Amino acid sequence: MNGHQQLSKSVWRKPESSGLMKNLIIVWLVQSYANVVSGRLCPSDPLCQCTLFKQNMDCSDRNITEIPALQAHLIEINFSGNTIKEVPDDVFYNNGLLEILDLSHNLISSLHQRSLYGLVNVKRLLLNNNYISYVHCLTLTALQSLIELNFKMNLYDSLGLNVTGLTLITAKLDFRQPTNMTRKFWSMPTLRNMDVSGVTGICNVTTLTSEVFKLLPKLETINLSACSINYIYIGTFRKLSNLIHLDVSLNRCLKFSGLENVTNDLPYTSIKTLNINKIHQANEFTTEISIRHFQNLKNTTLETLHIEGNRIQLVESEALLYIPKTMRNVFAADNQFSFGGFIKDVLNISIHFVNVSNMFTPHYPIEKPEICDFPEDRCIRSEDGHKRYLHSLEEEQNNIQPSISIPPNMTKVIYRGCNLRFEIPFLRVSSNKVKFIDASFNIFYSWKGPVKSFNYLEYLDMYKRIK
Ligand SMILES: *[C@@H]1O[C@H](CO)[C@@H](O)[C@H](O)[C@H]1NC(C)=O
Ligand SMILES: *[C@@H]1O[C@H](CO)[C@@H](O)[C@H](O)[C@H]1NC(C)=O
Ligand SMILES: *[C@@H]1O[C@H](CO)[C@@H](O)[C@H](O)[C@H]1NC(C)=O
Ligand SMILES: *[C@@H]1O[C@H](CO)[C@@H](O)[C@H](O)[C@H]1NC(C)=O
Ligand SMILES: *[C@@H]1O[C@H](CO)[C@@H](O)[C@H](O)[C@H]1NC(C)=O
Ligand SMILES: *[C@@H]1O[C@H](CO)[C@@H](O)[C@H](O)[C@H]1NC(C)=O
Ligand SMILES: *[C@@H]1O[C@H](CO)[C@@H](O)[C@H](O)[C@H]1NC(C)=O
Ligand SMILES: *[C@@H]1O[C@H](CO)[C@@H](O)[C@H](O)[C@H]1NC(C)=O
Repeated sequence: MNGHQQLSKSVWRKPESSGLMKNLIIVWLVQSYANVVSGRLCPSDPLCQCTLFKQNMDCSDRNITEIPALQAHLIEINFSGNTIKEVPDDVFYNNGLLEILDLSHNLISSLHQRSLYGLVNVKRLLLNNNYISYVHCLTLTALQSLIELNFKMNLYDSLGLNVTGLTLITAKLDFRQPTNMTRKFWSMPTLRNMDVSGVTGICNVTTLTSEVFKLLPKLETINLSACSINYIYIGTFRKLSNLIHLDVSLNRCLKFSGLENVTNDLPYTSIKTLNINKIHQANEFTTEISIRHFQNLKNTTLETLHIEGNRIQLVESEALLYIPKTMRNVFAADNQFSFGGFIKDVLNISIHFVNVSNMFTPHYPIEKPEICDFPEDRCIRSEDGHKRYLHSLEEEQNNIQPSISIPPNMTKVIYRGCNLRFEIPFLRVSSNKVKFIDASFNIFYSWKGPVKSFNYLEYLDMYKRIK
C-alpha cells in the first residue's frame, strides 16, 4: 500500500477541504497505478514521462521544477538536468530503501537540516552542478549509509561540509584554497578516493602541504588535475601508505621541480599509476628530465606513467636508470624527444609498452598560459643541454650503421603522427621482443634497410595517411 501512503502524504501537504480530499485520494490512486509515477496530473506534468524500470526511476532532463511525492519502493532516482530549486524538509521521508539519488545539474541553492531526512540507505548522492551556498551542519550526517558523495561545482566551500560519523569511501569535491594554509582540512578516516579535479569542478590550490591529507589516511586514489598547483611540499603524500593512483596533471606551473617533490614521497606509498601530463605550459621552452626528477622513483612500485604534453626534449644520461623495475607502461605522447635511440640506458628499463605519438605537434597559442605564482620559469633545462639529448649527437654524426636500443622486454610501441621525415637506413636493433609497432602518420619516404632485427614482430603499420 505504498501508493496510498504516499498519496495521503502528498494530499496532506495541500490545504484543501477534507470532503474533496477523499475524492482526490480515490482519483489519484487510480491515476497513480495507471501512470506508475503518482501524485501528479498527467499528461501535462512532465513527471509522468519519467521512466520506471523495476525500482529505478529516471527523471533526468524533463524540465521538472520540484521534487514530487515519490513511491517508497524506489532504489534509484535520477533527477539530473532539471530545474529543481528546493529540497523541502522530509521530501524523501518515505524513501528509506533508496540507494542512489542523483540531484546533479539543477538549481538547488540550499540544504536544510531535514532536506535529506529519511534517506538512511542512500549510498551514492550526487549534488554536483547546483548553486548550493548553504548546507545545514546536520544535513549530511543523516545519511548513515553514504559511501559516495559528489558535491562539485557548488558555491558552498566543501571544506565546511560536516561529514562527521559518515563512512565515505569516495568524495568528489571542489577545493578552494588559494592562499590560506592555516585552516583545517577534511577529516574522513575511511575515504579511499578523493577527486578534486578542476576539470570537472572548481579547484584552486596554490600550495599543497602535509596538512592537506593528514586526516585522510586511507586514500588510494587522489585526483588533483587542473588545480592551479604551483608548489607541492615534500611530505604531502608521505603518510599515505595505501596511495595507488595519483593524478597531478594539468597543473602547468608545477614543472618537473614540483614533480621532484612528489617523487620524494612515493617510496612510502603503494603507487602504481602516476599521472603528470601537461605540468608545463603548452608553449614554453622544451624541457629536460634530469636524474633529480626521477631518482626517487627507483624505490617505488610504479607501473604506469602518464607524462604526455610536457615538451620534453632532453633526458639526462642515466636518468632513465631510475625507472623502477615494476614499470610497465609509459604514455609519453605529445613531447619533443630528440629520438635516435642510441643511448644504452633504455636497455635496462623494464617497460613493455610505450606510446610516443604526436611528437612535434604544433601548439597554437589558443590556450592562455596559466599564470604562475613565481616570476620566472624555474630552471627547466641545463646549460649544457646539447650533451643530454636522448641520442648522442656524436654518435649520430659518426655512426654510419646506427644501432637502436630498445628496452628488452618491450612488446608494443606506438609512434604515430610524429611527422618523422626520413629515410629508413641500415639499422641494427638491440635484442628485443617487440610484436606490435604502430608508426603510421609519419613521413618515412624510403626504406633502404635492412633493419635487423625484429624477430618477434607480428604487426607493423607504417601507412602514411597524411591529410
Ligand atoms: C524542456 O523545456 C524546453 C524549453 O521550454 C523545451 O525546449 C524542451 O523540449 C523541454 N523538454 C522536455 C523533455 O519537456
Ligand atoms: C557535525 O555532525 C555531528 C553529528 O554527526 C554533530 O554532533 C556535530 O555537532 C556537527 N559539527 C558541527 C561543526 O556542526
Ligand atoms: C584562514 O582560515 C582560518 C580558519 O578557517 C580563518 O579563520 C581565516 O579567516 C582564514 N583567512 C583568510 C585570509 O581567508
Ligand atoms: C582525474 O579527473 C579527470 C577529470 O574527471 C579525468 O579526466 C582523469 O582521468 C582523472 N584521473 C584519473 C587518474 O582517474
Ligand atoms: C619542494 O618542497 C620544499 C620543502 O618541502 C619547498 O620548500 C619547495 O618550495 C617545494 N618545491 C616545489 C616546486 O613545490
Ligand atoms: C628503499 O625501500 C626500502 C624498503 O622500504 C628501504 O629500506 C630503503 O631504505 C629504501 N631506499 C631508498 C634509497 O630510499
Ligand atoms: C625482462 O624480463 C625478464 C624475464 O621476465 C627479466 O628477468 C628481466 O629482468 C627483464 N628485463 C628488464 C630490463 O626488466
Ligand atoms: C597514444 O597516445 C595518443 C595521444 O595521447 C592517443 O590518442 C592514443 O590513443 C594512444 N594510443 C594507445 C594505443 O595508447
